[in-house]
Amino acid sequence: MKISDRIRYVGVNDHDKTLFEGLWPLPFGVSYNSYLVIGERIALIDTVEAGFSEEYLEKIKTETGGRPVDYLVVNHMEPDHSSSMEAIRKQYPEIRIITNAKAVPMIAGYYGITDNIMTVKDGESISLGNSTLTFYMTPMVHWPETMMTYLNEEKTLFSGDAFGTFGAVDGDIRDSMGARLCGWLGDKSDTFQEFRSEMTRYYSNIVGKYGVPVQNALKKLSSTEICRICSTHGPVWEDQITEVVSLYDRLSRYEGEKGVCIVYASMYGNTAKAAKALEAELAGRGVPYAIHDLANENVSFAYRDAFRFDTIAVGSPTYNNEIFPPVASFMKGLGTRCLKNRKFLAFGSYTWAGGSVRQLNEEARNMGFELLSEGAAFAQGYSPEKCNMSAMADKM
Ligand code: FEO
Repeated sequence: MKISDRIRYVGVNDHDKTLFEGLWPLPFGVSYNSYLVIGERIALIDTVEAGFSEEYLEKIKTETGGRPVDYLVVNHMEPDHSSSMEAIRKQYPEIRIITNAKAVPMIAGYYGITDNIMTVKDGESISLGNSTLTFYMTPMVHWPETMMTYLNEEKTLFSGDAFGTFGAVDGDIRDSMGARLCGWLGDKSDTFQEFRSEMTRYYSNIVGKYGVPVQNALKKLSSTEICRICSTHGPVWEDQITEVVSLYDRLSRYEGEKGVCIVYASMYGNTAKAAKALEAELAGRGVPYAIHDLANENVSFAYRDAFRFDTIAVGSPTYNNEIFPPVASFMKGLGTRCLKNRKFLAFGSYTWAGGSVRQLNEEARNMGFELLSEGAAFAQGYSPEKCNMSAMADKM
């Protein structure tokens, strides 16, 4: 697929994988993006997951007209982008891998490849004849070897996973040409709005821990004029770069928008009743919210909205004197992701000895969250008298 005179898209859509990284559901699929920069010499930017190698090689052959590919630029070594490397080397035995020093042992470790590798440093450039590629090191976005590649003549940033999103892409890959989220049934007039939720879920689950490195990368690139972003997942951004960069900037600063993420799990429905009472209070007041039952839903959706909103309300029964396991795991994941700048409220049922609300509050304090109150622990069944969610909602 032609993106410009120099750039071709040769990526693929994956509609078959059910769990990305073995963890995160893909209701809209996912794309693995790879690009050709075609000049006097030809560079391939990243590859695709190995299961798609055959389709991928055909696309490359079509776009190059059978010319050999001279360089493979490896921006990131995670196997969703690197595992067709062996197939590419087999097809183009003379190809030279361009990457940075941190990727070299990973290439050897994953694929046993140690020859024909050229390393580049931050700010270094290579010429393809009539095109120039400049490399920027962006470590820990979200692996140590991550870097980005900039095509100077077209002000195009090949950003690796940064600015990426879950969701396969229907139609043209470019937002400017109406790229669509595969399976999207809502309004089809705005590519960014279609992908926004899956982009937030992708960021919060995959990259969320690395807010500081993302901020460092954004600062490093702030003086570089960017007219096109070619990420390894999702659309190519041309018209909506400002929206995409602003979202990544806000998420990596851990800045939440006004609203409440209600997350709970329940053994016999009493903590669930409290969660739904809070939901009704927020809905009645017009406060934006999302609600997630961890017993019936993958936790990635809860992390998405914990990153999205500025307030988190967490409900857990007391189980073996502790936080109920799915909720404990959710809280641990918030800490792992270094989430900060949040207001927090805990609630939950117990039968003979409480503990979950106190422990949730402790964990929230340890993460630097602002407690809206000491929370609401209630014995046995839920009732508005035992657990006053109207008073809780007043604080939100
Ligand atoms: Fe899409 Fe970090 O790989």
